[in-house]
Amino acid sequence: MRVLVCRSASAAATAAARDVAAFVRARPRATLGLPTGRTPVPFYAALVGLHRRGRVSFARAHAFNLDEFAGLAADDPGSYHSYLRRRLFDHVDFPPGHRHVFDGAARSARRQIAGFERTLDRLGGLDLAVLGIGLNGHLGFNEPAGVLASRTHRVRLSTSSRRANAWLFGGDVRRVPTEAFTMGIGTILAARRIVVLVTGSSKARLLRRALQGGITTRVPASLLQLHPDCTVILDRAASRHLAGGGVS
Ligand code: PGA
Repeated sequence: MRVLVCRSASAAATAAARDVAAFVRARPRATLGLPTGRTPVPFYAALVGLHRRGRVSFARAHAFNLDEFAGLAADDPGSYHSYLRRRLFDHVDFPPGHRHVFDGAARSARRQIAGFERTLDRLGGLDLAVLGIGLNGHLGFNEPAGVLASRTHRVRLSTSSRRANAWLFGGDVRRVPTEAFTMGIGTILAARRIVVLVTGSSKARLLRRALQGGITTRVPASLLQLHPDCTVILDRAASRHLAGGGVS
């Protein structure tokens, strides 16, 4: 695992965007797993900037969202689909047929999950998963538990995750859906490369457990320690509890 500590959250976001752009330049047909949440907002802004300056094209790449709230239609302003559209898809050149997002409002969850997995398999799995880490250590919406599901599935969201997403629902945690769809931990860890972006002091203690503690499904992000090609990009605030200043 490589850990890169940047001087600020915005420098970390820019470093992550440059990394992803370089990856896609080298592998134009890359399949990408894409995160949502507050942390990646400046990352997407930087990625869009690189695209506008002609430094990266997604015309042959494929995007897969990591997760989506159950019960929300694609055009619901709180959905992750809306988030990705507003922050990325509306500004870069992924062809519409290459934007693979869960339909949170699909009538048959089973069919939708099977379709998502089939498409991902047909394209050879993820080349690059870009991830955040939740305050409780989740990856995608794989919440801390005794047992984690490997493939795409429906999950019940923890109170911590619902609170962390209230900003998408006017700050009202009661409006945050109670369930979601997420890529499974196996699908995420099977990505050939992983780039993780974490910023802010609120995640500093969790990061120490995730990156330097024991590997446990109670901290799903600790499983990243097993991945052969994982780069973790942090700001100083997030890195402050890491032993050795985060260098590993
Ligand atoms: P956050 O979410 O950036 O809003 O903290 C990160 C995540 O849940 O992956």
